[in-house]
Amino acid sequence: MSETIAITPAAPVPQPVSSTPYQRLGGAEGVRRLVDHFYDLMDLEPQYADLRAMHPTNSEETREKLYLFLSGWLGGPDLYSPQYGHPRLRMRHFPYAIGTKERDEWMACMVQTLNEVEMDDTLRRQLHEAFAGTADWMRNKAEPGNMPAGNVVHG
Ligand code: HEM
Repeated sequence: MSETIAITPAAPVPQPVSSTPYQRLGGAEGVRRLVDHFYDLMDLEPQYADLRAMHPTNSEETREKLYLFLSGWLGGPDLYSPQYGHPRLRMRHFPYAIGTKERDEWMACMVQTLNEVEMDDTLRRQLHEAFAGTADWMRNKAEPGNMPAGNVVHG
């Protein structure tokens, strides 16, 4: 008499929970894609020409720094601090006069990037919100209705 062996279907292999924005974006490659697309748009699209002109002619180093910073900011490995120290992002932007116009141009370039780089819609919304808050916080130019913290005087 042959014995029947019950074959139970294998339990689904547990999938890692991709919880951080870094993982959901696709890790290091995803962050690179985002950063490269952002600066490619800045280089190419005429509506970002003023924003582009604030940056160094060669954007390689800027791209690298934003990549290193975003890696940690999005919940991945902190690559920026070991090389450059505490980000102190607002302070590092003091040499550049950032008002509402500059903030809005930066954000428009980032929103276009978020819309054109592949990611899920929830992540897209979350990143939009997080970047908007950070870009607003970066303003340092005294304008009517905006007297930012710090003693920054731009001529
Ligand atoms: C709000 C409008 C913004 C403007 C006009 C602006 C402009 C600039 C400029 C001109 C530089 C110098 C580039 C260089 O020296 O290579 C810079 C550096 C940088 N920006 Fe922004 N930025 C803005 C917002 C942001 C935001 C929201 C983030 C992050 C979410 C960010 C992240 C960085 C980083 C990581 C660097 C490199 C800092 C360093 O180590 O020198 N910026 N930005």
